[in-house]
Amino acid sequence: MRTEVLPVDPVDPDPGAIARAAELLRAGGLVAFPTETVYGLGANALDERAVAGIFAAKGRPPNNPLIVHVAGVDSARPLVREWPDTARRLAERYWPGPLTMVLRGAGVVAEAVTAGGPTVALRVPAHPVAMALLREVGLPLAAPSANRSSQVSPTTAEHVLRGFDGRIDLILDAGPTTGGIESTVLDLTHAPARLLRPGLVPPGKIEEVIGPIDQVSPSPRSGGALASPGLLDRHYAPAATLECVDDPSWPHVHWLLQKGFRVGWLTFWGEGLGKEGLIVLRMPRRSDEYGAQMYAALHQLDALGVTRIVADWPPDTEEWLAVRDRLRRASSRVIEGSGSF
Ligand code: TXA
Ligand code: MG
Repeated sequence: MRTEVLPVDPVDPDPGAIARAAELLRAGGLVAFPTETVYGLGANALDERAVAGIFAAKGRPPNNPLIVHVAGVDSARPLVREWPDTARRLAERYWPGPLTMVLRGAGVVAEAVTAGGPTVALRVPAHPVAMALLREVGLPLAAPSANRSSQVSPTTAEHVLRGFDGRIDLILDAGPTTGGIESTVLDLTHAPARLLRPGLVPPGKIEEVIGPIDQVSPSPRSGGALASPGLLDRHYAPAATLECVDDPSWPHVHWLLQKGFRVGWLTFWGEGLGKEGLIVLRMPRRSDEYGAQMYAALHQLDALGVTRIVADWPPDTEEWLAVRDRLRRASSRVIEGSGSF
């Protein structure tokens, strides 16, 4: 199979490219497309065979269900058995946007999408290309992040191509995504609702709308129960061993260099610039900017063939929750000291 790459304007996508993608999806094909978080690998969520293609291409375990993307509430309602008031209020506030809601399924989407379970995860992406595609195709699209299973999520079409060249039909290339971190996944089938995966909508913003929620997701420091297969450890991982290190991290980086490692360093500071064997990536001190750049930084370091990656641990505050969660999952080791920034 040849993988076609079609450039599209991220704000005003070319209808010809969207029509081509929709045609492939209707025929059971696999199309990668940008969302406001990361690139997704889409297939018709009603087509059992097409969905099987996603699992095969990603090497994804069949017990890990997929998020279904829809154009709006009207397209979401037929896919669920009930539409609770919590869902109505959250959709009003955060859709389109990076909030995925887990609800009781109506048995409409292909069984593989829900991993045979009673619930279905839904979201309306806030990206003009994703929205144009959903409207044109007129189908719900199952779309996990467009990376091979347990590798780093893609924020550019190049990242997608690196993982899937020759394995999928088409990539809609709209340049880098702006969010950079996957959506928040919230289970609304429990009372109170449960946070399954921290993401771009922080827990406090959800609680503003529906009151207190359960944050069962393992905190970066404590570990904890896994409520969703996607919370399995060792996710989003680069090829090189990644270590998260509390400030001051320079002594550890220095030690690795002395041991002969080629080190990539995601740091808030910037010592060691120009040191042999060291690639310093200065990271933003704003969590949203950090999130937008993090996966691209990991992809870059992988491409450069470093043998170790060190990341300075960001502060333990709610705004950094999603970044810390992804760093922890990408890492093999967390070295913590005082917790100071
Ligand atoms: O931002 C995003 O959410 C991106 C873009 C492409 O939309 N998608 C994404 O999909 O991150 P994926 O497959 O990489 O992650 C989906 C997460 C997994 O942790 C999965 O276990 C969980 O959502 N999930 C999906 N359906 C579920 C369900 N019915 N119940 C519980 N968790 C579910
Ligand atoms: Mg993923």
